Amino acid sequence: MTDPSRENILVVGATGFLGPALVEELTVAGFRVVCGVRNLQKAESQLNFSGVSFLEVNLNTDLDSDVWLFRLQKHKIDRVINNVGIATSFGAQSLENVNVLAPLALFRAMQSYLMNPEFSGNHSPNIPRVIQISTTGVDWPDCCDFPYPASKLQMDEQLAELKNLPYVIIRPNVIYEPERGHLLLEQIARMPINFFIGEEYIQPVHCREIAIGATRLFRKNNKVCNTILRATGPTPMTWKEIFKTASAALDKEYFCSCSVPLKLAQLVTILIQLLPTKLLIKFGILSKMDPEAMVMMTRGSTGCNSDWLRATRLLPIHLHECYREYGKGAEAYSDFIEKIRLTTT
Ligand SMILES: NC(=O)c1ccc[n+]([C@@H]2O[C@H](COP(=O)([O-])OP(=O)(O)OC[C@H]3O[C@@H](n4cnc5c(N)ncnc54)[C@H](OP(=O)(O)O)[C@@H]3O)[C@@H](O)[C@H]2O)c1
Repeated sequence: MTDPSRENILVVGATGFLGPALVEELTVAGFRVVCGVRNLQKAESQLNFSGVSFLEVNLNTDLDSDVWLFRLQKHKIDRVINNVGIATSFGAQSLENVNVLAPLALFRAMQSYLMNPEFSGNHSPNIPRVIQISTTGVDWPDCCDFPYPASKLQMDEQLAELKNLPYVIIRPNVIYEPERGHLLLEQIARMPINFFIGEEYIQPVHCREIAIGATRLFRKNNKVCNTILRATGPTPMTWKEIFKTASAALDKEYFCSCSVPLKLAQLVTILIQLLPTKLLIKFGILSKMDPEAMVMMTRGSTGCNSDWLRATRLLPIHLHECYREYGKGAEAYSDFIEKIRLTTT
């Protein structure tokens, strides 16, 4: 690693699903983390890790590089992870502002900031100064027809063009983790029927793989920079196989499987979206569930994970292993994650 005790990492989008895992892994590795969040109250309850500090940000409105430059200087930031991403223009949020214009303002500010020797320090040019969390789907030939991956692609391309700003773009596949996130497989495993959509393959990746992997990209001997890493899980699976695998690992069995037509799944999301926005936000789950998200879910997305594993020297996490260990109880699961954290291939 770089000398973590002397490095300040700004994680923008530190709450939600992936954000707290990033903050935790950086903290465990010894970095000082500044959590960029839009809701301080939520952040304080979600990010109960020692030594973290908080910075209020809003990517829907913080479009001016000077605003970011001031923050980088004030907090003496060494590196940034931009984890913010929204799948739809939900509520008052603009997809363009949140996914493109504000991160671009932040990265441009980082570029200017590093021109000052006081802040650029004596750092290796091979360690990324910024990590952008992008998404799968950006590789689809018709990605531009889907506003979410299209906005991420736009951001990735603009970041790659910024001079003198060492970066890594991580493109995760669908992310999962027991009891957290947008895909609670342990709840789905409890259902008597395996309701699935589509027959395409995806490669779900464990949340800790992304968080530990991103943290390792900041290590001292890292030589991976100015590149895109496709963070896919180790095994291509259909949704039907994903649900079945998790359920079998938890010693449960579906009574039968039933394919849900896309149109029906879309209709359900439309009905859900009719509920008051306040209620949806309160439950914090449905901002990504709309008819277009359903289409994206059934598109399939696979890819080789060897660059990702080589760069991070991670042991890949297999879905069946994860749920088998989770099924054994909290201690076994926490030992399993600790083993991933400590193993370097
Ligand atoms: N989950 C997946 O399967 C998946 C797959 C591929 C890529 N990704 C990417 O991974 C990243 C994290 O995803 P996630 O699933 O953890 O999403 P998430 O739970 O929805 O979290 C997104 C983060 O962005 C923050 N955010 C949203 N709008 C903001 C704004 N206007 N200003 C400041 N912060 C804002 C959220 O803050 P609040 O907590 O206040 O809402 C949260 O911290 C995203 O960039 C996403 O595109 C996710």
